[in-house]
Amino acid sequence: MLTLLDDAIATRADDEGGFGVYVHWPFCQSKCPYCDFNSHVRHGGVDQTRYAAALVRELETMADWNPDRRPISVFFGGGTPSLMEPSTVGAVLEAIDRTLGLPADVEITLEANPSSVEQARFEGYRAAGVNRVSLGVQSLNDADLVALGRRHDVATARAALALAQRIFPRVSADLIYARPGQTTEAWAAELGEMLAICGNHLSLYQLTIEPETRFWDLAKAGKLVVPNDDAAADLYELTHALTTAAGFERYEVSNHARAGEAARHNLVYWRGGRYLGIGPGAHGRILVDGTRTATATHRMPEAWLAAVEAEGHGLAEREALARDMIADEYLLMSLRLSEGLALDRYAERAGAPLDAERITTLIDSGLLEHGNGRIRIPQSARLLTNAVVRELMP
Ligand SMILES: C[S@@+](CC[C@H](N)C(=O)[O-])C[C@H]1O[C@@H](n2cnc3c(N)ncnc32)[C@H](O)[C@@H]1O
Ligand code: SF4
Repeated sequence: MLTLLDDAIATRADDEGGFGVYVHWPFCQSKCPYCDFNSHVRHGGVDQTRYAAALVRELETMADWNPDRRPISVFFGGGTPSLMEPSTVGAVLEAIDRTLGLPADVEITLEANPSSVEQARFEGYRAAGVNRVSLGVQSLNDADLVALGRRHDVATARAALALAQRIFPRVSADLIYARPGQTTEAWAAELGEMLAICGNHLSLYQLTIEPETRFWDLAKAGKLVVPNDDAAADLYELTHALTTAAGFERYEVSNHARAGEAARHNLVYWRGGRYLGIGPGAHGRILVDGTRTATATHRMPEAWLAAVEAEGHGLAEREALARDMIADEYLLMSLRLSEGLALDRYAERAGAPLDAERITTLIDSGLLEHGNGRIRIPQSARLLTNAVVRELMP
């Protein structure tokens, strides 16, 4: 059981990190061979009216536990949220506004796939209140889009990006790099093309071969070979050089934005804020009976639906977080950011400061920088982020 002091710390952590709502839509038209997100294909279709009602119900339950904050961000992630009917998105947003209150300047993001069917829904999402779209372009190379199992080609992705930019005030695009056989020259050309058309925000992910995916099986069988660590590091550095030259800041390991365009939603996670996670397989950091609690809902959509309809929420896991866990999480998440970790915030959460000697050693080795009461990992050491975090962890 946490003490009153711990509760105060948890609340303070929320205040500093902001408050958001994550909504997971767990359905896709097909399963991409690299993807281990909670996504399911339902050929028979999905009863959106029933899912919308369940999302609203789960939101109401969690909002009741967390009535004190207004979200700075709402994020519809997936799966493929651009398979949601605009009316489903609208119902969830209306419920958030009714229960928690949506400020006029709230960021409302929806992850969209670029197919033409989804493009037809863009106007409806905008009318429902969505003001930022994150478009899963993944590649500007037709052969690689096929290899990634994507259902769109480059022309469709370009059209979707142009349309999204006409309709939404803010648009981001995702690309996956370090793909099988990808050379630095090819990536430089592709990223250059993307930087010319993408606007203000890009998420650039190195391909990860995740367990229990088709790519994992192929890699194990030697039929899929990704760039080795050195080649991947070259691609990472090239990514930094090209995005910086184009006026983007790498504000997080994989996220790049022009000034003022960072995604507020992800900042809530990385700054240790609070977020409700609703929908199948959603994670959250919420208050339950006043205690900061890590939550996860049932991953299987039908199990989640039945639980919400019976109990008002689909939580499969909830773990009250002790202060050392809150502090460890802040360390892990904040050092992903270019702004880094605020030493006083860490000390307050942990009840003790980080080890000064270890910080000095890391600074002397060029693995950390210090200034304005913060420590951060310099660009030159970003690939060693996990090792630096391990070294600092008490
Ligand atoms: C929830 S996913 C997908 C959103 C949307 N359904 C789509 O596919 O465009 C969010 C992003 O994670 C990235 N991603 C997913 N699996 C990945 C992997 N194994 N390696 C690297 N990036 C990955 C992709 O760029 C993707 O756009
Ligand atoms: S990458 Fe996107 S579209 Fe593909 S299976 Fe994963 S969530 Fe679905």
